[in-house]
Amino acid sequence: MRIDIVTIFPEFFDVLDLSLLGKARQSGLIELGVHNLRDHTHDRHHSVDDTPYGGGAGMVMKPEPWGDALDAILGDAVTVKNAGTHDDGPILLFPSPAGDQFNQAMARELSLEQHLVFGCGRYEGIDQRVVDHYESRSRVRLVSLGDYVLNGGEVAVMAMIEAIGRLIPGVVGNPESLVEESHEDGLLEYPSYTKPASWRGLDVPPVLLSGNHGAISAWRRQQQIERTERVRPDLLTPELQPPANAKASTSPRR
Ligand code: ADE
Repeated sequence: MRIDIVTIFPEFFDVLDLSLLGKARQSGLIELGVHNLRDHTHDRHHSVDDTPYGGGAGMVMKPEPWGDALDAILGDAVTVKNAGTHDDGPILLFPSPAGDQFNQAMARELSLEQHLVFGCGRYEGIDQRVVDHYESRSRVRLVSLGDYVLNGGEVAVMAMIEAIGRLIPGVVGNPESLVEESHEDGLLEYPSYTKPASWRGLDVPPVLLSGNHGAISAWRRQQQIERTERVRPDLLTPELQPPANAKASTSPRR
């Protein structure tokens, strides 16, 4: 997968040299380009923002540097819009609190793409015409990390790249570890334990020491349901609701 990022803070993305994503870059599974928006300004001060038309607080990012930067990345690559396959050319992603909620399903969908281009807005956002223009040429999505406001898109892009990147085959060494994670089957994950079997008076649940794989699977599933019901009841579909007479939980409260 190719990932391009346009930002006024390229250093933010230095951490992508580290850990699993750093290894994925070294091995060529992920190819990364980080582009400084200011390299696409043409005035003495390298300005990327200006006051908003209509008044109001804050500054808005000017369209011209964005146009130059994105044209340079997209080149001739911008092809058929919404052609319905993942070979449709790059997809442009603008992190924004006004976007669609990013989640595991979206991460999985985006992990199948060949080229992601992220545009990190700052200040009060990017002149709307940038999105309007590229929507007529390419696939464009506004994506929100959650219902809170960050100072800019960089942190949101970091989170998205990590969530997407680890789903690319080969990035995580043992693909089995991706299967039983929170959100993969619509539920939060079950609690995990390792040695020692007893620590500070707290014992590992005996079923996990039983060697009975059926009982372990059933216990883990029940833990997932109970934890989801307790922490994120909004995720529970009717078929996953525990029966009304289910006995009180023995789960850790987390
Ligand atoms: N930029 C500012 N706030 C954001 C958020 N919540 N999600 C994505 N991008 C953002």
